[in-house]
Amino acid sequence: MTDNAATAIDNPRSTVVRRRKGVNWEKWGWVYMRASGVLLVVLIFGHLFVNLFAGEGVTQLDFGFVAGKWASSFWQWYDFLLLWFALVHGSNGIRTIINDYSTPPTGTGIRWLLTPHGIMKTALVVSTVVLLTLGTLVIFTFDPCPAGSPADLLPSFCSVAR
Ligand code: HEM
Repeated sequence: MTDNAATAIDNPRSTVVRRRKGVNWEKWGWVYMRASGVLLVVLIFGHLFVNLFAGEGVTQLDFGFVAGKWASSFWQWYDFLLLWFALVHGSNGIRTIINDYSTPPTGTGIRWLLTPHGIMKTALVVSTVVLLTLGTLVIFTFDPCPAGSPADLLPSFCSVAR
């Protein structure tokens, strides 16, 4: 034990025991973290390059820039992949951390749910599903010039388009 034991974090020791039969989800989660990590390097640096470096650089970022990008199905699918790979990667990483540091309860159902472990896992699943749903809807339904909107609420390029 060290002198600063009060601030030391325990060694991670997953207390989640794997079933011996069936699909080894823990292994596939491990594989997913590596495969998505490689893809994320490409997606994240491509995103940063196009938004912050190419063209006029960081000063080009505004509502019109986003509208322009999402007018192209290429950038819609690019951002969709970035959203899903990063969010599922981040959530699966947080799931690993919860398993490493919080003991799963022995009970099931409501007895499982009303424990720190159950609350954290439930909050993780709910927030992931909400963010994936909202993010996907925003990417594919975004309309910078919605029909019937008052002209003074619309960006100037909408009048040019009509
Ligand atoms: C350049 C992009 C990225 C690469 C190459 C990458 C790679 C990795 C790898 C290989 C692991 C597994 C580490 C292990 O099992 O010990 C990991 C864990 C993790 N990643 Fe990423 N990642 C990237 C981006 C992200 C992003 C954008 C997020 C958040 C949305 C994120 C959140 C996490 C979390 C929470 C963990 C779990 C950490 C832990 O177990 O201690 N990563 N990452």
